[in-house]
Amino acid sequence: MAALQTAVVSLFPELIETALSIGITGRTVRDGRLACRTYNPRDYADDARQTVDDRPFGGGPGMVMTVGPLRRAVYAARTALPVDAPAIFLTPQGERFDQRIAAELAGLPAFVLVAARYEGVDERFIATEVERELSIGDYVLAGGELPALVVLDAVARLLPGALGNPESITAESHVDGLLDWPHYTRPEVETRPEAEQRVPAVLLSGDHGAVATWRRQQALARTWQRRPDLLLDRHLTAADRALLAECIDEHT
Ligand code: ADE
Repeated sequence: MAALQTAVVSLFPELIETALSIGITGRTVRDGRLACRTYNPRDYADDARQTVDDRPFGGGPGMVMTVGPLRRAVYAARTALPVDAPAIFLTPQGERFDQRIAAELAGLPAFVLVAARYEGVDERFIATEVERELSIGDYVLAGGELPALVVLDAVARLLPGALGNPESITAESHVDGLLDWPHYTRPEVETRPEAEQRVPAVLLSGDHGAVATWRRQQALARTWQRRPDLLLDRHLTAADRALLAECIDEHT
């Protein structure tokens, strides 16, 4: 499997590189399944002071990143990639990033992420160089670096071989549009001064069918309680509806 080729355009490349050297993402990079190069717009400025921003036309606070250094950095990133790569700009104005988009990006051969400071980027850069705009949620961060890392983290763990156990991708939260079920490990009984905490008996039963049904029911019930909006978007099988009805009855 060829590595997913990525590039990040950012004024803080060390932040990107450090984060990508750690944990599962770090292993994905070391194993050659994910490649990521960084491009600092400052290196593509055309003056001795390496200017990358200027005051906004029309007035107002804050600075706006100029088109030139960003465009040249994206161009350099694209030229170094073996295939045509879309440029994805991280912005609160973008389409909301989710597991579906993560899976879509994990299936591409290459992409370029553009992280800018939030105050603003000259719109002409976005109009000409950017194929897609993504937001990681309805809040405003100071820059696009953390959003770019969120995207890379979510994508990296979907690459083949990124996890020890491939089942853990399909079996978990959001992949199936549902929240995750609760997990337990040893000891069977946690002794606290107030009360004992026991692992649900079904998980100790050795009955794989019963365990699977319990987990499915827990996932459905949690989604119904915590994120009912997720259930509106998906089709539930008759079996799922029956499992959910059982616990809704218990709660009402
Ligand atoms: N840049 C600043 N805030 C952001 C957000 N919520 N998502 C993506 N990029 C951003």
